[in-house]
Amino acid sequence: MKVVTVLGARPQFIKAAPVSRELRKTHDEIIIHTGQHYDANMSDIFFEELHIPKPDYHLGVGSSSHGKQTGEMLIQIEEILLKEKPDFLLVYGDTNSTLAGALAAAKLHIPVLHIEAGLRSFNKKMPEEVNRILTDHVSAFLFCPTDTAVKNLKEENITNGVHNVGDVMYDAVLYNMKLNQNNTLLEKHDLTKGAYYLITVHRAENTDDENRMHAILESFKQVEGTKVWPIHPRTKNKLSAMGIDLAEIPGLQVIDPVGYLDMLTLEKNAKKIMTDSGGVQKEAYFMKVPCVTLRDETEWVETLEGEANILVGADTKKIVEAVNKELSPNYKDLFGDGRAAEKIVAFLQK
Ligand code: UD1
Ligand code: UDP
Repeated sequence: MKVVTVLGARPQFIKAAPVSRELRKTHDEIIIHTGQHYDANMSDIFFEELHIPKPDYHLGVGSSSHGKQTGEMLIQIEEILLKEKPDFLLVYGDTNSTLAGALAAAKLHIPVLHIEAGLRSFNKKMPEEVNRILTDHVSAFLFCPTDTAVKNLKEENITNGVHNVGDVMYDAVLYNMKLNQNNTLLEKHDLTKGAYYLITVHRAENTDDENRMHAILESFKQVEGTKVWPIHPRTKNKLSAMGIDLAEIPGLQVIDPVGYLDMLTLEKNAKKIMTDSGGVQKEAYFMKVPCVTLRDETEWVETLEGEANILVGADTKKIVEAVNKELSPNYKDLFGDGRAAEKIVAFLQK
């Protein structure tokens, strides 16, 4: 079978690595990179490090408004699908690249495979929520990472083609943690195992709202100790436009975005993680590192059990309290058995 995969943003490269590896054992895969993420440390590094096959097509769409970015992808993906005539189109998650791929294929009656289907924040102001609802509603096969995702789809009357296979990000963590030995990264950044906080912030609801951003940064000032923050280019640009100087925050080390293996090392050895990322919330759970989520809601509701993950929004007091809280959550196997990619390909085979 011939599968066209559409990728565009950092977390999609990471999710694609285990699936591509498995898919290519028995099927032909053509990769389209939309170019949504294009900096070397937001894109190339993942292809190299995770041995993801080089994209067959690179659309070079880059950054722009939602409509323009998604529209340009749609035009080019349609042309490629007409030429390649694949049996399936594969998309991951909830970015503009996901929606463009799904929409182009659905209009050409090419069955869409959606990996990480069924996630909901129930907040339609999030661009990701719009992208995933629309993608799920035009997908033929919906590979869910959790039972909650299956239930969410059922509530929208989507039951055909729905399978809980577990989370491909868990596959990726298990596979890559084995490779992640002898890392001198902590030394390089003068970090001590278990004695620093890891930060990531990139969600539009935070970066595009000055009040929320100020409240979050105030909490970083109030949290004592070493903090390391691989900063997303979106956030770097927004903070610079707001005239904010992160050097004023005591104990904070701002670094460029890191590769996946380095990120796993930073996560595993952190005392706690403060993030608004979807993927990082889950990885914190996989690594059994307590997480403080700088959002008002989460799609990954399972991680909240036993306060393994605490939702604090952009409330300075709540953030500081959650970071300083002593916790010993009971972690469970909620995201499958690390064989999600295998199960997805087995379904395709059937
Ligand atoms: C996108 C996804 C989001 C996902 C995130 C993963 C959408 C709507 N959002 O958000 O769901 O969580 O990727 O990281 O699809 N930029 C660069 N270099 C890059 C990429 C981006 O400088 O390589 C800057 C540009 O200023 C750009 C901004 O980041 O305007 C935002 O990039 P964009 O891809 O539009 O959205 P993300 O915030 O990255
Ligand atoms: N990540 C990374 N380097 C970084 C920050 C994040 O490799 O500097 C990885 C992280 O480990 C996770 C994924 O990127 O696997 C999460 O992507 P992101 O936070 O950009 O998007 P989201 O998951 O919120 O959509």
